[in-house]
This record gives sequence, structure tokens and C-alpha cells, in this order.
Amino acid sequence: MISQELNDSLTRVGKGTDAGEVLRRYWQPAALSDELMSGRPVVPVRLLGEDLVLFRDSAGKLGLIGRRCPHRGADMCYGRLEDNGLRCPFHGWHFDRTGQCVEQPGEPEGSRMHEQITTASYPVVERNGIVWAYMGPGEPPAFANFDCFRAPDTHVFAFKGLWECNWLQALEVGIDPAHASFLHRFLQDEDPAESYGKQFRGTAANTEIPMTKLLRDYPRPEIGAEETDYGLRITALRHLDDGRTHVRVTNQIFPEAICIPMSREMTITQWHVPIDDHNCYWYSMFTSYGAPVDKAVMRDQRLKEHRLPDYAPLKNARNNYGYDPKEQESETYTGMGLDINVHDQWAVESMGSIQDRTQEHLGKTDVGLIRYRRMLRGAIAALKEGREDALPMRNGTDPAGIFGPVSNDSIAEAGTAPGAATANSDAERRGACTWNAAV
Ligand code: FES
Ligand SMILES: [Fe+2]
Repeated sequence: MISQELNDSLTRVGKGTDAGEVLRRYWQPAALSDELMSGRPVVPVRLLGEDLVLFRDSAGKLGLIGRRCPHRGADMCYGRLEDNGLRCPFHGWHFDRTGQCVEQPGEPEGSRMHEQITTASYPVVERNGIVWAYMGPGEPPAFANFDCFRAPDTHVFAFKGLWECNWLQALEVGIDPAHASFLHRFLQDEDPAESYGKQFRGTAANTEIPMTKLLRDYPRPEIGAEETDYGLRITALRHLDDGRTHVRVTNQIFPEAICIPMSREMTITQWHVPIDDHNCYWYSMFTSYGAPVDKAVMRDQRLKEHRLPDYAPLKNARNNYGYDPKEQESETYTGMGLDINVHDQWAVESMGSIQDRTQEHLGKTDVGLIRYRRMLRGAIAALKEGREDALPMRNGTDPAGIFGPVSNDSIAEAGTAPGAATANSDAERRGACTWNAAV
């Protein structure tokens, strides 16, 4: 357990807060490109507790500016998209994508007051289906050469979903390999078939063992977490009775993403992005090393589970996540259906809006999140001392030289080191990849 003071330091995200300032030193997912596809590309964005509006101007350029008009505070989301900017409908003040007021049509002729008026504005870029914002001071860091950014657009599908809880507990479920043996357990083995939300129903790489069986029969993985240039590499070893070892390598990408294997051909890189202290979005980039992704099918599958425009899941606390005690007896560990996203959502939302970590009791299997909190504390301390260059990927190591990260399921034969099994399995799929995935 940790003190209330430390819990506040690690979880709060507003401007000037400890973790909020760390998060502001990195590009943040602000919206899906999909959200700008309607006839009127203007969307409200609440990010790190700040209310903003994202729009595409008539030159096709993106702007992310304050949601409140600096004149009297009207909502710029209802602005008129015209004259290469956004115009407030209340008195017609007009803003360009840098947040500069360029016209005040009701003020006296020749007035230059507008030159003094600006609203918040943040740099934005679009990469593989996501619009990214940089909300910190100075220059944004370069993007790392992660697979989700290197892969061509044809091989990446991006989606998001709302979780009604603090971002840190959302992230922590992704760096906790022990929970999969319980939370995502199916009580019967299925035919290994890969489909949405059932990624633990395929076979473990290179074996005939269904993942469901493997997770169920070996619930005490040996978990290790080591620091890397980008965050943490987390290894979960399940030692099988026949001498082989199932090796699952996942990653924490600092500050708030994870990268995990979904199947032999696909990884998921997932950001847990604070909307404010009490809500977050997961943004996932599904990256294929095999065939191009079928975006229409993947989008339709997920839209069946989510409501627009806020991407709120249809199963949620208001309907008990679809909980069915009969199903819990005979089919699934949770009784909440087959979609593992719902299981994770229940786990993190049910902790309360901000988990009270003064009451928790961490075990050996929580090593991933223990190491992560240490990294976050280190980054907070470094920023307070003005040592911005001590932060991962801002420390002089060129992010462009950071590849992967390797996330993989494999089987190490008896006598083979887990690291070698991972390297072989990963090299095999990268070798067969149609885009240059070599690391
Ligand atoms: S409130 Fe926006 S122009 Fe007056
Ligand atoms: Fe999970």
C-alpha cells in the first residue's frame, strides 16, 4: 500500500500536477481519425482535464484549441468552420488553428484588439488512424519507431473505448500478467479460433495447447520486469509439466501504453489516456505482421459493443456488465460474456473512480506495476528537479532508434532459454512480414 499523498501524485492529471506534467512530456492520443470523417470535422476533446476542440480547417490542417471562447466563454464546438479557422457563433470572433484570434467583426473598424487575443492551442499530428496532441512545454519528442507507427496504414487498425476510472488503474491491468489466468478464464476449452475479444482462445504459439487451458492449468507464472529504453519489458513464464516453458513477453511503453501479443500475426499497442482524473480512453492500434487488416470488419465488430459519439461501452456498471450468475457457474470466470475487454473494464472500474491504494496489498505477481510506479515516481522527481532529460525517450536516446517492442508468445523447449525462444519466434514472424518489420 502507498500513502494518500503518493496515490494523488501518481494519479492526478491536471496542469501542474505531478503525473499530469510527466504525461504532458509525451504525445497523447486525442481522437481517432475516424471521428473527423463526418461532413463537419469538429470534435470536442477532453484530455488531461483540459477542454479542447479539434478541427480540420479548410486547408486540411488540424487545429486543437481551447473549447471556451476567450471573449465570453461560449462553446467553440458549435463554431462555424469557415475562412480557414473556427468562428464563435456568439459574436463572430474568429480563430485560426494556432489559437490566434484573427478577426472580431463586431468591434470598431480598424480595431487591433484581436492581435492580443489567443486561446490555448496544442500541436497535433495524425499517425495511423490516431490524432496525437502534445500538451507540454518546449519541443515534443520524436515518435519512436514502434511497429504500430512503422507499419503501413493498411496494416494498422485504431479504435478506442471509454473506461470510467482513473488512467493508472487502467494501465496497471495491462502490466499484470497474472490476472489472465483468472479474469479471462473460460471454463471449457474451445476450438482454437481467433476472433474479436477472445484472444486467449487461440493456441499458444508453436503448440497445440489452447491458451485457455494453459492459463487455467498454470496459474502461477514466474513474472519478471526489466527496464528498457522505452519503459518495461515484462516476461511471464509458465513452466509446463513436460519440461517446456510458455513464454509471454509484454511491454509497458512509458508513460501510459502497453504492447501485447494478440495472436501470432497481430499485436496491440494500447494507450490509457486520461480524459480527467476519473475517466480515461483506451486507444488501441492493432498492428498486423501478416495480411492487411480488414478495417471495416474490425470497426463493425467494435461498434456493436460501443455507443457513439463517445465510444462508451454498451456493457457497463449501469447494467452490471451483463453479469449472469449461471454463466459464471459454468462458462466464464466472470459471468460477463466472452469479450475480454469487458472483463478488464469491470476489473478497473469496480475498484472505484480512483483506486484507494492506501488499502491495497501487492504480492510477488504485482512486480510489473511495482516497477512501473517506481519509474513514474522517478520521472516525477526528475521533472521537479528540472531534469527533463532523465525521462524515458527524452533522455538523449534517439526515439527513432527504438524499434519493436517485441511482444510475443512462444514455447521454449526444455533446455532452451526463454529469451532465445522469444527471439526466434519474433524473428520468424518479422521475417515473413510484407512490410519491413526487422528490428
Ligand atoms: S463568446 Fe465567443 S465571440 Fe463572444
Ligand atoms: Fe486483461
